[in-house]
Amino acid sequence: MSFSLPPLPQRERAAVDFMGMLGKASFPMRSAIDAHIEAKGVTAENLPDDLDERTDVMLGTLADSKEFRAQQLFGEWHARYMAALADRAFEAVKGEALDDIKRFHNGPSELHLDPDMEAPDYWDGVDFHRTAGGWDSHDYAGLVHGEIIHKRLVDKMYPGGIFKQRRFVADLAPKEHYDTILEMGTSTGHYTQALQQAYPKAQITGVELSASTLEHAARVANANGWAWKLYQRPAENTGFADASFDLVTSYILLHEIPADIIRAVFKEAFRTLKPGGDMVMSAVTRYADLDKLAEWRADFGALTGGEPWWRESASLDLGAVAEEAGFVDVKAWGEKPMNYPYVVMGRKPE
Ligand SMILES: C[S@@+](CC[C@H](N)C(=O)[O-])C[C@H]1O[C@@H](n2cnc3c(N)ncnc32)[C@H](O)[C@@H]1O
Repeated sequence: MSFSLPPLPQRERAAVDFMGMLGKASFPMRSAIDAHIEAKGVTAENLPDDLDERTDVMLGTLADSKEFRAQQLFGEWHARYMAALADRAFEAVKGEALDDIKRFHNGPSELHLDPDMEAPDYWDGVDFHRTAGGWDSHDYAGLVHGEIIHKRLVDKMYPGGIFKQRRFVADLAPKEHYDTILEMGTSTGHYTQALQQAYPKAQITGVELSASTLEHAARVANANGWAWKLYQRPAENTGFADASFDLVTSYILLHEIPADIIRAVFKEAFRTLKPGGDMVMSAVTRYADLDKLAEWRADFGALTGGEPWWRESASLDLGAVAEEAGFVDVKAWGEKPMNYPYVVMGRKPE
């Protein structure tokens, strides 16, 4: 069994599907925008090095592109209304969903929320993805993110789907089996689920700052009979004893935290791993793997899409960060063909 919402009423379903289609509708405009840029003589080679200056040049170049303006309008509409629309869809089925919400409150998973946790400044009150109120805007924000925004909207926009990507990363860890796994940045448990499937006998522990996403991860675990241990704690300071885990891993956590915290996260992964333990972290496409035009697209998308730490994270050499933390046999690469995800793996020496 797994947790799922009752079918959405026609009006809400149509609104959510329309939002998903609108997100995709701007994809074909890309070739017209590229042609416009080329006609203006702007190339990856003649753009400024500085990313903010580059934005000025690109916005000037594209000011008279109808397709670019339409793409921005679609993007803006998407960013502003996606969460509101998903919340409204949830409200329409909340009455019916409450039985399962209550039923899966209990089960084999452990949920350790910490109402006294001091939320870090880089996260607290930040409207990630332009969601007003951040990840915890209301009690069921995590459920709405996991069940509606991710499964019905985001999943449709990525080739192969978001679950396939997570399973790909989970399978990269070099051993067949791990007794204990620490996942950093668990959110609603999409990657945790991939880890559960890849290493069915492992004891999985997750840390996450957001209470409402973690509560939903617990529902998902309970509905499936999985005994995840979920803690509301920062990845850079998990509170677990040294050498507690055989594998420490994360999926797209790193672009949501500043560079100094990324370094602290790698050190915490090293500290909490047993000697000989493995680390696998996956992140967004590294800027160094992109030409200046592609880098600008990624950076401008992040800036307008509510990703305040993306630039810092994507500009780091994560392989070097892993080595600085003490990892050996470090491998780091952007997965082809899109250089996404960017994967960093390493081992704690015996
Ligand atoms: C993009 S989501 C990642 C989702 C998840 N790993 C998945 O596969 O769907 C990033 C999550 O990291 C959490 N996060 C951000 N900073 C964190 C930190 N320092 N420690 C723990 N979690 C953090 C955010 O609250 C958010 O839920």
